[in-house]
Amino acid sequence: MGFRKMELAVETTGLTKKYSSLIAVNKLDLKVERNSIHGFLGPNGAGKTTTIKILVGLLKADEGTVKVLGQEVRGDQADSRLNIGYMPELPKFPKHLKGAELLDVYGRMYGMTEQQRKEQIPKLIDLVGLKGRENDLIGKYSKGMQQRIGIAQALLNNPELVILDEPSLGLDPVGMVEVRELMKVIAEEGMTVLVSSHLLFEVEQICSHVTIINKGTLLASDTLQKVSGMMTGPAIVHVELTKFSDAVGKAVKELPFVLTVVRNGNNLRIELNTHEDVRAEVSQKITQAGGVIVGMNVKGSNLEDVFLQLVTKNQGGKAQ
Ligand SMILES: Nc1ncnc2c1ncn2[C@@H]1O[C@H](COP(=O)(O)OP(=O)(O)OP(=O)(O)O)[C@@H](O)[C@H]1O
Ligand SMILES: [Mg+2]
Repeated sequence: MGFRKMELAVETTGLTKKYSSLIAVNKLDLKVERNSIHGFLGPNGAGKTTTIKILVGLLKADEGTVKVLGQEVRGDQADSRLNIGYMPELPKFPKHLKGAELLDVYGRMYGMTEQQRKEQIPKLIDLVGLKGRENDLIGKYSKGMQQRIGIAQALLNNPELVILDEPSLGLDPVGMVEVRELMKVIAEEGMTVLVSSHLLFEVEQICSHVTIINKGTLLASDTLQKVSGMMTGPAIVHVELTKFSDAVGKAVKELPFVLTVVRNGNNLRIELNTHEDVRAEVSQKITQAGGVIVGMNVKGSNLEDVFLQLVTKNQGGKAQ
């Protein structure tokens, strides 16, 4: 009442893109909250890159509307891109340029003054961890360093929204951790981050919100916690005790989120009505009842399970 809903960073409605008869993006409603790290998740060919290219104005939608930072995007006007930072999938930069030179070239394209470039470029080189290597040729950069100069490029114009298309593609585990940390830093600087990935565990570790698509169609979109909780069927906790007692059995059943308890010797199989992590509560209750836990594990409830379930269910979908 009276309050204007805070504008979303990205809002598409009915977004559709076809490549001749192939429906790459199918009536997609994508909503990205401001100041979030939003994971855009889907298997190969799901339509992530196509959607992103439409958001940044490189491709034109066939149907639907696209709003980025409150402005309608139609695919031809460049000014709507000025507040967006974009790193394409597997960016290829000229090998004969030095890292710092590349940023300078892009800075000029953004219309930054020499003074602005002088201030901003060293800051970004530092932020992405390339200090000391900025005067090396890009041709001599490792994949990880190329991704990082790509991210620096995406941050040049101090964008409100940063869109990164699979920034950890081709990186080794260490490089992937570094890129994840970098995304967190970017978000802490106050930017909204939209990051595409087919790697579930990665999204799970850094994102506050997740959208899952497959074959161009939206399967789920919500906070990470809600999407993780979308599993069909209950979450199960297995507990191994040194010795079962009736007092322990009774105590566990008293917990408000426990549906059923099945005992097998000193093992309990506890069915929950929640996908939240309640291991601490279960453990505390058992200890209070005089039980001693020697093992505990939770089945399901991670994004990987949800993702596989959603994608498998969707196999008969209309798009290809
Ligand atoms: N230029 C193109 N011409 C024809 N078909 C295309 C073109 N670009 C993409 N496609 C098709 O559109 C669908 C979506 O592709 P897109 O690249 O958007 O998926 P993606 O989710 O980014 O996949 P990946 O994880 O492999 O990067 C795929 O079936 C792909 O083959
Ligand atoms: Mg892609």
